[in-house]
Amino acid sequence: MVKKKGGGNNISKEMTDRHIFKTYNRYPVTFVRGEGVYLWDETGKRYIDFVAGLAVNNVGHCHKDVVKAISDQASKLIHVSNLYYTQPQSELARLMTASSFADRVFFCNSGAEANEAAIKLARRYSRERFGGAKRYEIITMLNSFHGRTMATITATGQKKMQEGFQPLLAGFKHIPFNDLEALKKSFSEKTCAVMIEPIQGEGGVNIPDAGYLEAVGELCREKRVLLIFDEVQTGMGRTGRLFAHEHYNVKPDIMTLAKGLAGGMPIGAMLAREDIASFLPPGSHASTFGGNPVSAAAGIATFKLMSRSLLSNCKSVGKYMIKRLNTLKKRYKFIKDVRGAGLMVAMELDFPGREITMMMLEKGILINCTAERVLRFVPPLMVGKKEVDIVVDALEDIFSSGEL
Ligand SMILES: Cc1ncc(COP(=O)(O)O)c(C=O)c1O
Repeated sequence: MVKKKGGGNNISKEMTDRHIFKTYNRYPVTFVRGEGVYLWDETGKRYIDFVAGLAVNNVGHCHKDVVKAISDQASKLIHVSNLYYTQPQSELARLMTASSFADRVFFCNSGAEANEAAIKLARRYSRERFGGAKRYEIITMLNSFHGRTMATITATGQKKMQEGFQPLLAGFKHIPFNDLEALKKSFSEKTCAVMIEPIQGEGGVNIPDAGYLEAVGELCREKRVLLIFDEVQTGMGRTGRLFAHEHYNVKPDIMTLAKGLAGGMPIGAMLAREDIASFLPPGSHASTFGGNPVSAAAGIATFKLMSRSLLSNCKSVGKYMIKRLNTLKKRYKFIKDVRGAGLMVAMELDFPGREITMMMLEKGILINCTAERVLRFVPPLMVGKKEVDIVVDALEDIFSSGEL
């Protein structure tokens, strides 16, 4: 038995700090329960959650339909190998292909794995379709984020994610986001794909200029290069459409999803049209847990919750939040920008934002800081204006207190 210290409920923190790799800069709080937009820590304190597991809990914490799907499925069948067929996986794939450009889905367990799969598919397709091993290079964007595996840190256009892990994988080229000229110049006979987040998430919620993604799609088509949309963060309603690329007049050849796809259960997915998917035949790629029945059942429940009313709430509450944050911007010079789409909202400061996230935590509000100076707000999509008001008022309190 581990004794509590100092009367507080800090056992989990102590044990974590002692036994788990220190790869996370954790906040000093242990959560034990979640419901909708709210979380509770082990002392019973309630928090408003504008982090949502980092854009995962799109349908809210412990949505009753997701909980039921998980528990029903867990009592029937938790796992069998992908050597066999299962009902939840097939039904989820049917729903996903029915609501997207894609004909087929490959299931895995995370965003990084989905992007790994996309990188492998792009290479294999280009090699076999166009003959020869020369066509393997993937163009990605500076400030992008695609995951933490070796291939995906190489794809990621941020040096800090790559430090100390060299040699990186060959065959990636980084160019600035929103720069069509740079893209035009970067194509060569080696290029097999362009991989891009429709809206950059970890890089600071960077929105594409009008016409940019359409032009990227056009160039890819012209050069017969695959277009991969990494919708791991932007997908599943986050921006007010099921997939962010639906805001633009462009369709990818390959799309990756994860985060919000299964209501908080681990899952990842790569989607593609048949003419591309057919280049990964039996034995060419696999995942032991990919599409496991429990995650897939949670995915089906989550997919069914992606209603018009949820997406419209996401759009209108997101707009309202941006409007309210913009009134703060008028008052405080250190706010450089407010931007977003749906409920992927950001406020860029001219100083590091971590301290503000700590102060908000004290007030019982979770927000995240990314790209050092960007406060990011990605609440569950059923959040109301009431919660937005609480969050923006708390920020204003901090900004006006002179404590910064
Ligand atoms: C756009 C994007 N791609 C990939 C990933 C990696 O996903 P995972 O952490 O599930 O591997 C993330 C995670 O933040 C992401 O935002």
